[in-house]
Amino acid sequence: MRRAANEQAGHHEKPGPWQRAGRILRAYHVALIEGGGVSVAVVTRGGSAAEEPFGQTGAGLRRGWGVSPGRQQAIACTLQGLVPGAGRLSPARLQAVTSALVARRDLWADLIVHDPDVRWYLPLHRSNSCDVWLLAWECGQDTDWHDHGGSSGSFAAAEGCLVEQYRAASGWRLRRQVVAGRGVAFGPGHVHNVAHSGSGSATSIHAYSPPLLAMTYYQVTGYGLIARETVAIEGAEGARGRGGAETALADATAAAAELSSDALPGGAQGIDELLAEARGGLERMRADAALAALTDGAALVDIRPLEQRIVEGEVPGAIIIGRNVLEWRLDPRSDARIPALARTDGRIIVMCSEGFASTLAAASLRRIGLHRATYLDGGFQAWKAAGLPTRPAQSLG
Ligand SMILES: [Fe+2]
Repeated sequence: MRRAANEQAGHHEKPGPWQRAGRILRAYHVALIEGGGVSVAVVTRGGSAAEEPFGQTGAGLRRGWGVSPGRQQAIACTLQGLVPGAGRLSPARLQAVTSALVARRDLWADLIVHDPDVRWYLPLHRSNSCDVWLLAWECGQDTDWHDHGGSSGSFAAAEGCLVEQYRAASGWRLRRQVVAGRGVAFGPGHVHNVAHSGSGSATSIHAYSPPLLAMTYYQVTGYGLIARETVAIEGAEGARGRGGAETALADATAAAAELSSDALPGGAQGIDELLAEARGGLERMRADAALAALTDGAALVDIRPLEQRIVEGEVPGAIIIGRNVLEWRLDPRSDARIPALARTDGRIIVMCSEGFASTLAAASLRRIGLHRATYLDGGFQAWKAAGLPTRPAQSLG
């Protein structure tokens, strides 16, 4: 199922700058696989107020992303007295920021793009202490559960209605509606999911302090909210998102590729070389062959972390050994060994999620004497795709 666009300001976007008529326009977008679905967020240039990128404007402001210098200056004037040049703003102060901008339609109304397919947003302002975003919401659009990397925040509905689910200090998940003209604020530990509500389009203004640097997304499970991944968010000048073509991380990768050998320690291997070397000495155990081996006395060792097993599921009968203690449990010389498994003639099949980490783990086991150790090709994902037995992570509760 394709999810509606559901990324909040700064979430997952990756920029694709391109040249047109001698000027740089920027669009930010991302496709993120989430539980079989795809989340997409896009920043486009706004309506009639298509404005040029601009540079340093002084007064602690950083380069913007499509809001003109004049408009940014007008926003800065509106926020004067509310946003210091540095430091952390309180949630109450952030709510004053979003309220002040909600009241100034002339600063943002002509920029909004309502898109039923992709959630739209635009950075309005950024200083060293605070960043502010304009978001538009259509029916079915939400953010997914996330935190704000330690930033405090506030959002206010300027038009339409939003609904926020959030985790209270008690651990309970609560829900509140935010109607036009109203706002909420939260501290650095806040975890929430914000969604469009009502029938018409909605518009909101969000502020964060310190400016967003990273956000962690959470999966709703029977065990509660489990952290799924943290997404890095870079500054106004740079790209956002986790990598891929045309992102800052891609640039960093390209820069790394240009490193001379002098810049790396002699003989240092890249991860691809490590994997290739490890696989060179290992039997490639496919899922159906692994099942047959299990019935023939082999042991399937699941090295995935708990949160991954909760989200993905488990293989009945697999032996769970954390990657961080794997060698200590399986070295025949170790005081912390599991005697039934720590045998040089034992047939250990290491399983991770996709068959990469388990490759390195199996190679490590061979180095400590378990010469029959191997890995499950494709990991748990391949096992599940082959229709072999799985179950939800087991709870004693
Ligand atoms: Fe948020």
